Amino acid sequence: MRGDLLDFTADPGFHTPDESPGVRWRPDHRMLIEAGRIVAVLSPTAELPAAWADAPLDDHAGRLILPGFIDTHVHCPQLDVIASYGTELLDWLNTYTFPAERRYADPAVSAEGATRFLNALWAHGTTSAVVFPTVHKVSAEALFDQAGARQMRLITGKVLMDRHAPDGLRDTVDEAERDCEELIARFHGRQRQAFAVTVRFAPTSTPAQLRMAGQLCQRHDGVFMQTHVAENRDEIRWVNELFPDARSYLDVYDRDGLIGSRGVLAHGIWLDDNDRAVLRERGAQIAHSPSSNLFLGSGLFDWAQAEQQGVAVSLASDVGGGTSLSMLRNMADAYKIQALRGTRLTAWKALYTATLGAARALGLSDEMGQIEPGRWADLAVWDWSAGPVASHRDAVARARGGDLHERLFVWMTLGDERNLVETLVAGQPVFQSPHRLPAEPSKT
Ligand code: GUN
Ligand code: ZN
Repeated sequence: MRGDLLDFTADPGFHTPDESPGVRWRPDHRMLIEAGRIVAVLSPTAELPAAWADAPLDDHAGRLILPGFIDTHVHCPQLDVIASYGTELLDWLNTYTFPAERRYADPAVSAEGATRFLNALWAHGTTSAVVFPTVHKVSAEALFDQAGARQMRLITGKVLMDRHAPDGLRDTVDEAERDCEELIARFHGRQRQAFAVTVRFAPTSTPAQLRMAGQLCQRHDGVFMQTHVAENRDEIRWVNELFPDARSYLDVYDRDGLIGSRGVLAHGIWLDDNDRAVLRERGAQIAHSPSSNLFLGSGLFDWAQAEQQGVAVSLASDVGGGTSLSMLRNMADAYKIQALRGTRLTAWKALYTATLGAARALGLSDEMGQIEPGRWADLAVWDWSAGPVASHRDAVARARGGDLHERLFVWMTLGDERNLVETLVAGQPVFQSPHRLPAEPSKT
């Protein structure tokens, strides 16, 4: 595969574009891919090893090639309710989300939903995800089966909720434990799949279910834990009422042993210093979901504060609270949120976070997040621009000397899935743009 390779070797941090470490730019390089993995990266002048002379070339000269994006928090069944009008979190769940999720009890709905969802991720350049299905075991099975067929790194598990949810969407402690054990036995550690103990959020689990979930985390090596925390102020008030003994919302999870290094907590907008210290100590991450936070009116996440306290932060679409699966759109939203908080998010930091940063936070950087021999070939090929405005703006940047950060910041801010040319998961194409034009000669 040939193109302009961009990835990261370190966290660029919150610095100016020129002072950001860890950016690795390798224009017009070639990558050798075999059996799903990257086996070598060659400079423009390097000779192709003789054994590769007849290998087919996927030529993307002049296009960007990045590691596939990693979306650390997204809901498969919520493609049915993306872009629903008018409510904050708790009303939004009751009005739109819960009714949609009930349909996933039907295995056919779960299977179709998983197909639609995985295809949609790939059509946005996302090659790996931490996913919420529904309370129904079959919804997790469908995702595991279909991701497994593509050697995709997928982390999911059936949603736990045994109260404050409508009929058809509640489990019980015993039933949930049985379903989780079965899913762990069948899927955890199979191919690139991992199970996540999936507590929807504190209000929809009884204290007994939270205890059981904590025991699952302790009992099974390497399982992940995903949930929501401190997203919305009415939600937090409700959690305080339901768990008056807990020090904080985060503590509801922590006191049952749910927060460990494989913990992925969505949002965390309203955490305090104490909570952040706990997250740092446990090595858990916040899945920052900018589009969702804006759309549901949840609040402005203080990324720099989390960073300063040493908490790992990844980026997530949180569709259907979020309005786009595009990680570029989410980066553009993240930039605007940080701007309102007085911090500037570089394209370096944003792109790092959605690739190597997420892989590291998940403990999976030995398999993905970089363009490096030995890593799985989870890759996305992008056009620099789509449409007349972005093309013009990119041309202006190039005419000015082609400063790489300027071009990438414009790409991140104006780009979306229309820029996507091709997505590979474990070396196999899983998406190819129907409007794909021949690559232009290298312009950089
Ligand atoms: N909190 C509990 N469930 C959900 C959900 O589905 N989406 C979001 N954004 N927050 C939640
Ligand atoms: Zn969510």
